[in-house]
Amino acid sequence: MNERKSAMEKTKVGVIFGGKSAEHEVSLQSAKNIIDALDRTKFTPVLIGIDKEGNWHEYEEGNYLLNEDDPKRIALNKAKRGILLHLGKLEDEENVLTQLDVLFPINHGTLGEDGTLQGMLEMLNLPYVGPNVLSSAVCMDKDIAKKLLQLAGIRVAKGVTLTKGMQGEVVYEELVEELGEVLFIKPANQGSSVGVSKVTSKEEFLAGVEDAFLYDHKLVVEESVVGREIEVSVLGNEHPRASVPGEILPQTEFYSYESKYIDEKGAKLEMPAKVSEELEDRLKKEAIKAFEALQCEGLARVDFFVTEDESIYVNELNTLPGFTKISMYPKLWELSGLAYTDLITELLQLAMDRYDRNQKLKSSAFE
Ligand SMILES: Nc1ncnc2c1ncn2[C@@H]1O[C@H](COP(=O)(O)OP(=O)(O)O)[C@@H](O)[C@H]1O
Ligand SMILES: [Mg+2]
Repeated sequence: MNERKSAMEKTKVGVIFGGKSAEHEVSLQSAKNIIDALDRTKFTPVLIGIDKEGNWHEYEEGNYLLNEDDPKRIALNKAKRGILLHLGKLEDEENVLTQLDVLFPINHGTLGEDGTLQGMLEMLNLPYVGPNVLSSAVCMDKDIAKKLLQLAGIRVAKGVTLTKGMQGEVVYEELVEELGEVLFIKPANQGSSVGVSKVTSKEEFLAGVEDAFLYDHKLVVEESVVGREIEVSVLGNEHPRASVPGEILPQTEFYSYESKYIDEKGAKLEMPAKVSEELEDRLKKEAIKAFEALQCEGLARVDFFVTEDESIYVNELNTLPGFTKISMYPKLWELSGLAYTDLITELLQLAMDRYDRNQKLKSSAFE
């Protein structure tokens, strides 16, 4: 009886994982690590899986995953029961969402990290980990994100935005004149390097544009920044702080989808990155500046290019980065003195603090 009472006093954390994105499997691995590491003296997890069709189910901790140790074959097992999504203030005591105190969505990519899920969580009136609707959507859109970073005085790769309607007007030769011989083409709203290509001829450019348009109606075409790829983890709401930097050493032409997820030898991670104290300090400051410029809260991983002369470019911000034990985001915090379990506790606390802060806002002039 006593045990039950103390269990009931714990904060109930809904961990949301899976989803319709290309990163479904990575999300399952991230979720497993978070659930395993959750501080059980404070929290009780409730497992919420979204299958590849987009259906929400509640899962049981003992058996929610199949092939959990195989990153390629990992999959959701049979669910305990379906979850009825009910927007607005939940009053149905039977609905598992009603019982939650806070949510930790760990759905990478489209429909998870792009503001759509965050919008739904706002409608459910529940606190959740990670940046809000606006910030999540901005960070997902490489075109808008770069424009705002530039406004904040942060250096980004030179580039142009390309929409389907403009296709006829874009002259390859003019792009080369402006951006150089080597170009990167990327869908504006994607992740995991899906649809990204590096091109050095008109034929490759046209093929790259056609391919990228399969994933989005808007593309960015960028100059190639030759340099190291370095990442910094940022954590906090009003007073964010930055971790030590880590480095990606792609073993392929660039950090492609294959090198991220398929080829085990596709990329090496060096954590912490071998950088001077001076560069580390500048990277941390720039990471916080970018985090604030895009109005992030909770967490984001800030990805940089650092050129030979040590100029710093921000490439992108990821608002729900990988959370597996070997993932950059939590690993960099561990190396900065914050253990994985404590990081999760802090993220949940930040989510609840933000919710409380927002609840105090007046919603009408007549209150
Ligand atoms: N302008 C650029 N210059 C050099 N390399 C780039 C550039 N843009 C992207 N890349 C390479 O492509 C990878 C994927 O691009 P990125 O913009 O990070 O997209 P994603 O959101 O899919 O990770 C980067 O990690 C980097 O290796
Ligand atoms: Mg990237």
